[in-house]
Amino acid sequence: MKRKKVVAGNWKMNMNLEESKKLISELMQINVENVDVKIAPSFTNLFHSNIMLDSSSIEVISQDMHHEQKGAFTGEISAEMLLGIGIKTSIIGHSERRKYFGETDLILSKKVNSAIENKMKIVFCIGEELMDRNNNNHFDIIESQLRNGIFHIESSQFKNIIIAYEPVWAIGTGMTANSDQIQEMHQFIRDLVNSKFGNEISQNIKILYGGSVKPSNAKEIFSLKDIDGGLIGGASLNFSDFNSIVEAANE
Ligand code: 13P
Repeated sequence: MKRKKVVAGNWKMNMNLEESKKLISELMQINVENVDVKIAPSFTNLFHSNIMLDSSSIEVISQDMHHEQKGAFTGEISAEMLLGIGIKTSIIGHSERRKYFGETDLILSKKVNSAIENKMKIVFCIGEELMDRNNNNHFDIIESQLRNGIFHIESSQFKNIIIAYEPVWAIGTGMTANSDQIQEMHQFIRDLVNSKFGNEISQNIKILYGGSVKPSNAKEIFSLKDIDGGLIGGASLNFSDFNSIVEAANE
């Protein structure tokens, strides 16, 4: 099964308006056939980023969304608002949302439901802490994050999901999981999807790796059997690094 690779840049809380315009004008040079490229700027940069990339194949996606449609939820952004400015995909469940903003599996499952009801696509993030891995609990943690976050949805909706495996200990630390650890976990995730939703869906689901992906390691990571691309943090803020990672996925 040949799955088209995905490389998505998660800008996190970086880039003011001017900086983001500069980076986007550089990103416009990206011209790859075999990779779906996405960027997730902050909420304040979504609107103009999407306009600037209107005629490009790069998709602008959101870093998060609230599960309610509208109402008294100060500071929040709903699926409806994102759709209103042309954003059709959201990251949900990033470990920084789980860790710093108390987002539980229950909250995340509501966000997933809202995205699906609004016909939005989802990049659903999962990942274990270093302690979980040291205690040999990493498979259990990943399984429970998947079961509680997305396994309740109907199989017909699964085509709207991309899974991103991001071990928390590898995010922003420069410490990448090694190839065996990555392949082993991606295979485990694909097998779980198979046992829940069947072979066809499990062969089609895209599973990205995130955590200190950089030009020097991207090629090796993307060559692994069950890895369908990457979710890139720090290296997505610099055109030359991000472009090299996209090129590595295009090979
Ligand atoms: P880094 O690439 O900076 O480790 O971040 C990964 C990440 O969290 C992407 O969502």
